[in-house]
Amino acid sequence: YEIYFGGLRGIAPSLPMVFGELEARAAQALPPSLLSYVAGGAGDEHTQRSNATAFQQWGLMPRMFVGAKDRDLSVSMFGLTLPSPLFMAPIGVLGLCAQDGHGDLAAADAAARTGVPLVLSTLTEDPLEDVAPRLGDTPGFFQLYTPSDRELAESLVHRAEAAGFKAVIVTLDTWIPGWRPRDLSTGNFPQLRGRCLANYTSDPVFRARLGQDPAADVTATVGLWAQLFGNPLTWDDLPWLRSITSLPLIVKGIQHPDDARRARDGGIDGIYCSNHGGRQANGGIPALDCLPGVVAAADGLPVLFDSGVRSGTDVVKALALGATAVGVGRPYVYGMALGGADGVVHVLRSMLAEADLLMAVDGYPTLADLGPDALRRVTPSV
Ligand code: FNR
Repeated sequence: YEIYFGGLRGIAPSLPMVFGELEARAAQALPPSLLSYVAGGAGDEHTQRSNATAFQQWGLMPRMFVGAKDRDLSVSMFGLTLPSPLFMAPIGVLGLCAQDGHGDLAAADAAARTGVPLVLSTLTEDPLEDVAPRLGDTPGFFQLYTPSDRELAESLVHRAEAAGFKAVIVTLDTWIPGWRPRDLSTGNFPQLRGRCLANYTSDPVFRARLGQDPAADVTATVGLWAQLFGNPLTWDDLPWLRSITSLPLIVKGIQHPDDARRARDGGIDGIYCSNHGGRQANGGIPALDCLPGVVAAADGLPVLFDSGVRSGTDVVKALALGATAVGVGRPYVYGMALGGADGVVHVLRSMLAEADLLMAVDGYPTLADLGPDALRRVTPSV
């Protein structure tokens, strides 16, 4: 009722309540090339669109006489108890999306205010040591793009550990950028403009490789970054990855059940089912359609999920299909663009409120009550 009571006093929310409007408003707020970078995806963006429409092919079956007055949306994973099953997916360009250029700090503030964990990207405008203290009591996870230089990779992970991050998430699907027509037509790739490299330029190993102050020669800094960034990992690298941290280790970008199984056998602690929001490969399968197979193969390991989540309803459906926690991506970036930390808090709280209300109305008081049986396949009407 918070918003309705506000309405009685003539106060309406200043930010949109649905994704479509949020995106439209953000499109006006962000510079065009940055908007293309955030909103765009691979190829003709067919996979990106189908990530979102896949949710419409499932419907939640309402149950009555449940009396779902008190709901519990808390989850436990990796020894942590979280107040809700939501987290902020890693977003590399986040720093640029805030008006003051410190979007990573603002996202950490939003995490502290909501209890929704932030997965901090390797590609930030502020070094991870500056972001961590802003998280307050909310856990942060560090996302690793594994550089080809193993010592640099280890340095990044050890810095994240020392800063207090609670898990390491290794992204496997982006050792090379996908074919992104919107960015190709604007010629914009922020990292090659020297942006979002703070975790590298503050790193002792990177600085030693560079042999000079990163600020002294941006071209040389960017050149070294581009040379080291991409590393197409193979299964042979898994034991090394496992050995460099005692934190929970999660692999992001898994869609095939066999990959989930093999990662599990290799000692991984959690599987992150995602297709990077359709930014990397077009012509794929909606990430949601991959989720049940990955959950089955994960065989009890926590499964994180993202790609196409636009509402609290989507969150509930992903949970019913077996996700342990659900990642929000572009929606919170748009919240950031429109209102900084307040905008992110607005987006996260709205999603959580919608999920909570849906569970109340449809009679699913806890996450344990939500399983595949709660869903039915529906044919979307056009
Ligand atoms: C991303 N994503 C991403 N993933 C990652 O592991 N590291 C990163 O640095 C980034 N950077 C990034 C930037 C931008 C602008 C976007 C939109 C996405 C992918 C992200 O974590 C997540 O998988 C997708 O955003 C999910 O898709 P939707 O729901 O946002 O469409």
